[in-house]
Amino acid sequence: MITDKELKDKWFKFFESHGFKRIDSYSIVPENDPTVLFTTAGMHPLVPYLMGAKHPAGDKICDIQRCIRTNDIESVGDESHLTAFEMLGNWFLGECDKEKMIKYSYEFLTSPEYLGINKSRLAVSVFAGDETAPKDELAYNTWKKCGIDQVFYLNKEHNWWALGGGVGPCGPDTEMFYDTGKPKCCENCSPACDCGKYLEIWNDVFMQYKVEKVGEPAKLLARPNIDTGMGLERTVVVLNGLKSVYDAGIFKEVIDFINSKAEVKYDESETAKRSYRIITDHLRSSMFVLGDVKGVVPSNVGQGYILRRFIRRAVNHARNIKFDVKYFSDIIDLYVDKHGEDYKDIAQNRQLIKDELAKEVEKFSKALEEGHKEFEKVISGIEKHKQFASMKGEVVENIISGKAVFRLYDTFGFPFELTKELAQERGYAVDEEGYKKAFEEHQEKSRTASAGVFKGGLADSSYESTKLHTATHLIMAGLRKMFGPQVMQKGSNITPERLRIDFNLDHKMLPEEISELERFVNDAIAKEIDVTCDEMSVAEAKNSGAVGVFESKYGDVVKVYSIGDISKEICGGPHAKNTRDLHHLKIVKEESSSSGIRRIKAILD
Ligand code: ALA
Repeated sequence: MITDKELKDKWFKFFESHGFKRIDSYSIVPENDPTVLFTTAGMHPLVPYLMGAKHPAGDKICDIQRCIRTNDIESVGDESHLTAFEMLGNWFLGECDKEKMIKYSYEFLTSPEYLGINKSRLAVSVFAGDETAPKDELAYNTWKKCGIDQVFYLNKEHNWWALGGGVGPCGPDTEMFYDTGKPKCCENCSPACDCGKYLEIWNDVFMQYKVEKVGEPAKLLARPNIDTGMGLERTVVVLNGLKSVYDAGIFKEVIDFINSKAEVKYDESETAKRSYRIITDHLRSSMFVLGDVKGVVPSNVGQGYILRRFIRRAVNHARNIKFDVKYFSDIIDLYVDKHGEDYKDIAQNRQLIKDELAKEVEKFSKALEEGHKEFEKVISGIEKHKQFASMKGEVVENIISGKAVFRLYDTFGFPFELTKELAQERGYAVDEEGYKKAFEEHQEKSRTASAGVFKGGLADSSYESTKLHTATHLIMAGLRKMFGPQVMQKGSNITPERLRIDFNLDHKMLPEEISELERFVNDAIAKEIDVTCDEMSVAEAKNSGAVGVFESKYGDVVKVYSIGDISKEICGGPHAKNTRDLHHLKIVKEESSSSGIRRIKAILD
């Protein structure tokens, strides 16, 4: 039995002995990549270096990177799917010596000092070639020279690697598989057929190409690289001949722990097993996200929403197996003990992880029972309706209306996906379009309710309030500059004494961020910029890049207030004539307003 720790240690011993420098894992939230929410591969944070920038640790590096992939979240609960995983990786930056890397891979996999796999148990695939790139004969021949019999040429679908968004460094790869020894499923059985004979353990990507824009063809990279990745959890399972990731290491420990506390036992049914596994997986992912250096907390947007889904789903499945959520904190301890060594931020944030998790669990647990009752009511309502209809010879489909799904979300905190899952368990579908519509209608209503400033302009148009109103535009511009264009105003309230503004943001602002925001606004004040107002159609406003609400309720013509090139918002006004009138802004408070929404109070002094 090889443990994950042994595999990791062997990895670093091997690559360090070949001159690779070990670097720390990066954050689980990618930098400058709006296409995905989480780091999905070891190479993801290294994209700038793979595109040519110099890495401070040199051009031969290796690491272990925490990753999250949520596209398979619905499959978690079976034997193999995980949302979070760790990827062992090594890179040659600016060099693409395939022969050298394949020989390293061969040595690591077969040498008794490392994995000691018998070479007859190895199979590999290489790129078959197409209009993008030629057949990878060099890779093929190198494997053959190493003495590997089972070398398969496969097409782009299997042997080409690129990031999920399709943009960035990419290229042909060679994938390594463990041959379980099962008989071939057909004459052409290969690693492409997923019959379970061949299990992937490692992937060497030859990053000779890059795609600059979505849809553009791949071009040769001036400085090609090699990017390799080995999924730690999966490889441990394969090497030990286990059936499930949950049968090994920390996962097994957590399952055993839950089993010792829950009323419904792990082996009682497949449904119970699934709930155990979902709790085990989702709490680990929550730990990675909450403990990350970037400090994500549950919210209704972006990473915070996924985190919320993880936690709420875990709470719901704990209910299924009668497992008290107070033990979640012990599970976090098991995970932090395990992962704190590789991820220092996680070790430091142990308490914070537990506190934030407990807050979210408490918030949801209260509503959960009521929500389940409501859900049952909805189902029995439909059932009654069905009976009634069948007497008249009509058929009613098993669909839960969008309105009902939205009510479960809005009143009971059931993420859409959770209701969908509960519905599926009962043989029901949900009306997703209807849900989206109900959601948008609600957003619209609350926006109009909370954003008096947008629509009719300021209720009180005193000189003091007007200046504060202009300050709110500068604050929003600063926030969007600092945290990205997804940050939007969610409400405001202005009196002659102070302003209050709500906006979405996934974390509490750090003191230095508050100072930066103040500085941004005060710099704009010091620049003595004229505030100008233009009237234009909604379409023109939209095209001009103005921020605001674009619904036709504003009539055809809207006012767009601009503060130089710093801010441009659709707004009813009125505003100060020049930023100099504001004199100086001071933020007196930054606090939570509701989930995922922060509130700033500020004065002009
Ligand atoms: N980036 C490659 C992968 O994720 C190694 O498989």
